[in-house]
Amino acid sequence: MTDSLTIRDNRTGEEHEIEIVDGTIRASDLKKVGGLATYDPGFVNTASCRSAVTYIDGDKGVLEYRGYPIEQLAEHSTFLEVSYLLLNGELPTSDQLGQWTHDVTHHTFLHENIKSLMTGFRYDAHPMGMLMSSVSALSTFYPDARDIADPDNRYLQITRMIAKMPTIGAFAYRHSQGKPYVYPNNELSYCANFLSMLFKMSEPAYAADERLVKALEVLFILHADHEQNCSTNAVRSVGSSQVDPYSAVAAGIGALYGPLHGGANEAVLKMLRRIGTTDNIPGFIEGVKAGKEKLMGFGHRVYKNYDPRATIIKKACDDVFAVTGVNPLLKIAQELEKIALEDEYFVSRKLYPNVDFYSGLIYEALQFPPEMFTVLFAIGRTPGWLAQWQELVVDKEQKIARPKQIYTGHRTRDFVPMSQR
Ligand code: CMC
Repeated sequence: MTDSLTIRDNRTGEEHEIEIVDGTIRASDLKKVGGLATYDPGFVNTASCRSAVTYIDGDKGVLEYRGYPIEQLAEHSTFLEVSYLLLNGELPTSDQLGQWTHDVTHHTFLHENIKSLMTGFRYDAHPMGMLMSSVSALSTFYPDARDIADPDNRYLQITRMIAKMPTIGAFAYRHSQGKPYVYPNNELSYCANFLSMLFKMSEPAYAADERLVKALEVLFILHADHEQNCSTNAVRSVGSSQVDPYSAVAAGIGALYGPLHGGANEAVLKMLRRIGTTDNIPGFIEGVKAGKEKLMGFGHRVYKNYDPRATIIKKACDDVFAVTGVNPLLKIAQELEKIALEDEYFVSRKLYPNVDFYSGLIYEALQFPPEMFTVLFAIGRTPGWLAQWQELVVDKEQKIARPKQIYTGHRTRDFVPMSQR
């Protein structure tokens, strides 16, 4: 074998040859080396699947969906077209896109009992918690979703989920505002309808500014997939038990809720607000370097270069601010970025702005409260989660996710009665 690795086990003097395929070795092949396993907290160097959905070159700052560069998709495509691409592997023809748009548009309404469920949350419930609970509740409304082996059934559930996410997200927002929920308007595009459900009051039809609709399309496209990130891994891991896709996606929403993943843009805004003025930046940076806190919106597990999504969002900021007026925190963000990119601490660790550094500023300009930011991320990420879930379901190599552990606890000991403890 030429594409192979020879491992000499110094414990026994034995040599073992292990095949290399696609730049990886099979962890199970290591078993023959005296029962070895790998230890990889956070899966830093472990591939968990084969995937043809998204390609990332973190060193070069490249992101492609099904081979199409993110820059081209953000410029020329729409969120629904990109969703089709992620799910089907190819860009749709005009007829295919028409059918897909029709199907998604006609599943935007929620069962009234989902609405009742949502009204039961406390007035200050976090919209991500509401989204996660409502998506998992969908599994009880569509028990047919358990038939994951049937491709037509999968298509139906995927369509439902992509269609209903904005409705649930908007209801959660209206709930937090104490405003009546607004039903979908199927005359509008995906993003225009979302804005209508969020912001419509007494006017007969809500007409969002086209530039804001376009900005939302771009933001959703940028978030649509990102290969095996924490939430996608959660969707795949839970989905590997062959549960219905609503339950699997609810797990993904839970993962996305965390501040190290989707919650980072909310954390960025809080950080910028706390810094307050550009004069306070040097002191803040010193604190980060001393390990007191992180510079939120910086750093990435995969990108060791400028996150290509951050470049596109930075440009989108200008378009949005032209409509809404400039967010005063922008100046602090720009200055922070400038200082950090010149500082040895960040340079040596290859810490660059990620997608979350500027997205919060846009969301705030669009009138979203910080708690809604992660909901927007979740709506955008849904087609990616589902494309990955679908790939998992048909992948014959996949098994139920069940990592090994290195046991560090006590071994067999006798139970101690309460009186002797
Ligand atoms: N501020 C300051 N130092 C940092 C930061 C940061 N934002 N990120 C990483 N570092 C340091 C870290 O302390 C470590 O230093 P040292 O080598 O001295 O111990 C070094 O850089 C390597 O970091 P790491 O924690 O090993 O990197 P990771 O791959 O485990 O973590 C990350 C990636 C995104 C969780 C991390 O960079 C982070 O917490 N960033 C801030 C949160 C954030 O912006 N998250 C959004 C990620 S992008 C959205 C998404 O795709 O989910």
